[in-house]
Amino acid sequence: MRITQDSINQILQAADIVEVVGDFVSLKKRGANYAALSPFTNEKTPSFYVSPSKGIFKCFSTGKGGDALKFVMEVDKLTYVEALKYLAKKYAIEVQYDKTEFSDAEKEAQSEKDSLFIILEHTKNYYKNILLSHPDGMAIGKSYFIERGLNDKTIAEFELGFALDSWDGLLNEPITKQFNQDLLAKAGVIKISENGKKFDFFRNRVMFPIHNITGKTIALAGRILGSDKGTAKYINSPETELYVKNQVLYGLFQAKQSIRNQDNCLLVEGYMDVLSLYQAGITNAVASSGTSLTEGQIKLIARYTKNVIVLYDGDKAGIKAAIRGTDMLLDSGLNIKVLVFPDGDDPDSFVNKVGATAFIEYLTKNAKDFITFKTEVLLQDSANDPLKKGEVIHEIINSIAKIKDEIQRSLYFRKCSQLLEIDEQVIVSEYNKIKLGEAKKQQEKAQNLEETLHIDIENKIVTDVFARTDSNEIAEREIIRILLEYADVQIEEQTLIQIMFSYLQNITFEDPIYAKIIEIFKLELAQNQLPTLDYFMKYPDVTIEERLINILTSKHELSNLWYDKYQIYITPKDNDKMILMNKSLARLNFEKFKKRNRDNQLKLNKLSDAETEEINALLDENIELKKYLQIYAKELGIVISG
Ligand code: GTP
Ligand code: MN
Repeated sequence: MRITQDSINQILQAADIVEVVGDFVSLKKRGANYAALSPFTNEKTPSFYVSPSKGIFKCFSTGKGGDALKFVMEVDKLTYVEALKYLAKKYAIEVQYDKTEFSDAEKEAQSEKDSLFIILEHTKNYYKNILLSHPDGMAIGKSYFIERGLNDKTIAEFELGFALDSWDGLLNEPITKQFNQDLLAKAGVIKISENGKKFDFFRNRVMFPIHNITGKTIALAGRILGSDKGTAKYINSPETELYVKNQVLYGLFQAKQSIRNQDNCLLVEGYMDVLSLYQAGITNAVASSGTSLTEGQIKLIARYTKNVIVLYDGDKAGIKAAIRGTDMLLDSGLNIKVLVFPDGDDPDSFVNKVGATAFIEYLTKNAKDFITFKTEVLLQDSANDPLKKGEVIHEIINSIAKIKDEIQRSLYFRKCSQLLEIDEQVIVSEYNKIKLGEAKKQQEKAQNLEETLHIDIENKIVTDVFARTDSNEIAEREIIRILLEYADVQIEEQTLIQIMFSYLQNITFEDPIYAKIIEIFKLELAQNQLPTLDYFMKYPDVTIEERLINILTSKHELSNLWYDKYQIYITPKDNDKMILMNKSLARLNFEKFKKRNRDNQLKLNKLSDAETEEINALLDENIELKKYLQIYAKELGIVISG
């Protein structure tokens, strides 16, 4: 079913770009705009901008930009409809559906992304149904899960499934045959061999769908039934547009509400850990799925809570992993505790052994803050080795240095001085040394951080803009910008746009996108309407949206540069829109005459001496054009030669 246009409008109106983006990244005010580290890359200097007045964002690292809806789609890899639903939920808007009109979207997915969603949804359902109703599925798959202690409810909630021991079970399923086979391969659920033979990717495995935060299946993992050393225990469908491994946490969809409510997240390693804990009522666990924790995953957790307990298996390797993973967590400003299980146990086996109450008791009693944990672990290795102990001290202080909260930091100084059996003053002075070194390194950068950033962004935009523009394009662009910003400004009896259009009558915009925007303005104006930015953003042609975002976000950062180089009056210092409009019209006319002059010159070069009549006509026209050029140049305060 389709969401009604009224609903869509309501959602878009409610969505505040700063609030929406602010849920995902921490925004810093910069003039009228906000800046942040881009959520789309792992950058160190911010190149991500939000303009509250325009209601848009722009990421200069990736070129992505758009309104709040577009942001949600990009950042969470959601479809249009999913993103609308997300925003509706955030703003407590009840989504209305058009009951008469059924969308074809499900059958005829417009985009590859939607197709992948549909394929994975289908595949998940296929394996789920086998587990629940196929004789082998029940006898083998379901028995396996039951044996591991899972009940029907957990199996249903996580949509677990079973892949039969067959090369073509999925392949020969009637619905599967309706899908594009290449997309099935892209989704990773079937494989196509070199000689074109197709076969199921998952065979004889219990299946774990991996969901995105809205609960849609974005990938699948399959586990072998036994413990065959020769086969990979788990295989996963590949990374796709939907599934970027290092940005996904298994179980987050099921756990997110609980994480928020408890203001705490348990981070475990395996699928089975998440499932067993969940079933025991410990519903705030997510898994990093075997890989070491990434920045993307940390950001994901930070959206729901700042408190994380990392649960690791009791073996040596697990502990080493705990230490590695958590230094990054410290950097992120999260409060981290670490819990290690008795050797040989993991969260899954432990909770099954002792039950939920004892598990939580164990957790409460044994979870250690990360610094204490790290200190203890490292000290074990360096017991009677003073040289090693020196290294340990240095490493611990380095970790403490990453803690942003000063009070917390001084508490750790005290604690570690006890654990390491050295004077607290020694630790503090060691810490100061580290900080001093860092400060020196940072000095050059830090000195003009604002300035560097500013120049950086100017350069980025300038390259972006001028790589494919000429001065005519810039003049056209400026007219569009003024129309967008000031169309309704009242100048005596008229609006700015009315005056502007009286001057634009005989001018053709060369850039096809600008020409189209002007055309839209004209059409709307003819009906006494003024197209707003919103109107353009929703316009079916996305090239318009992209271009407008570029125009609107380049404005502030560019003003001085453009002013100097191109005599374009970007910021009306005296606030006189009329002057601004006249200047930009003069610029546009100047460019148009310049171009005609240049075209004439090219024609002249092509004519033979005998064609005197044509030559004279062109030369006469050029004299006229030069006159106009002089007039406009004067108005613009620029000097032209010849
Ligand atoms: P059980 O052995 O059934 O208890 O599974 P588990 O989920 O507890 O797995 P384990 O602790 O061995 O590994 C932790 C996580 O690492 C798993 O949940 C998987 O995400 C991942 N993993 C483990 N083995 C493999 C493998 O062979 N291939 C891949 N791709 N991932 C694996
Ligand atoms: Mn396990």
